[in-house]
Amino acid sequence: MALLEVHDLHAGYGAIRALRGVSFQVEQGQVVSLIGANGAGKSTTLNTLSGLIRPTRGRVAFDGAEITGWRADRVVKRGLVQVPEGRQVIAPMTVYENLMVGVDGAVEPGALDNIFARFPRLNERREQKAGSLSGGEQQMLAVGRALMMKPRLLMLDEPSMGLAPILVNEVFRIIADIKAHGIPILLVEQNARKALAISDYAYVLDRGQIVREGPAADLRRDPAIIAAYLG
Ligand SMILES: Nc1ncnc2c1ncn2[C@@H]1O[C@H](COP(=O)(O)OP(=O)(O)OP(=O)(O)O)[C@@H](O)[C@H]1O
Ligand SMILES: [Mg+2]
Repeated sequence: MALLEVHDLHAGYGAIRALRGVSFQVEQGQVVSLIGANGAGKSTTLNTLSGLIRPTRGRVAFDGAEITGWRADRVVKRGLVQVPEGRQVIAPMTVYENLMVGVDGAVEPGALDNIFARFPRLNERREQKAGSLSGGEQQMLAVGRALMMKPRLLMLDEPSMGLAPILVNEVFRIIADIKAHGIPILLVEQNARKALAISDYAYVLDRGQIVREGPAADLRRDPAIIAAYLG
């Protein structure tokens, strides 16, 4: 059984049917990408999985449990953790406070040290207000905050959006590092070329439906994919 199994997921916003029967899987240890044009339903998919949007139909199984329709806090506790589009750090709170905000109960010894070791820039800015961090630093903080919640699967929504090229590379290094530590990732990225380069498998979402899937290495070489998404 896969770590995450999504079957025939439907969700929307009133009359707008954003997801119309989405099915895909993430296996243990994998990085899986969802690629697709603006408005395809990528963020809606992640938001539905994390319990922010209620599906109107379909089934989600995660880590052996049926989590369809679970509330967001319960989903996070189970280990399905999302870094939302646009980072959404809490501007008036410090770096340290942002890292602690999602943590429920006692912090595991060393958890914070691990985050600061991985992101030295955050360590140097522990007491700085998150709102005064650069875009790249805010992205690191958003990822660090998610890692504090001990994800069994990390979902990243456009982590490189709006970042300078050097920081885009940094974000992809961080993703590779997280994978190397054994945490599987469901990745949504506008930079489909870089996303496919670090993914094991990928799905193409078009107007609320999966229209292609395959090993990322195959999709990267596919002329139709190149023309539509990697041009
Ligand atoms: N809060 C909302 N209210 C109404 N419609 C919405 C809302 N959020 C998204 N939609 C619509 O749902 C569809 C899917 O949007 P979604 O944000 O999931 O796309 P996306 O693939 O993440 O796009 P992008 O690459 O631009 O982030 C779009 O048609 C969008 O206009
Ligand atoms: Mg989106």
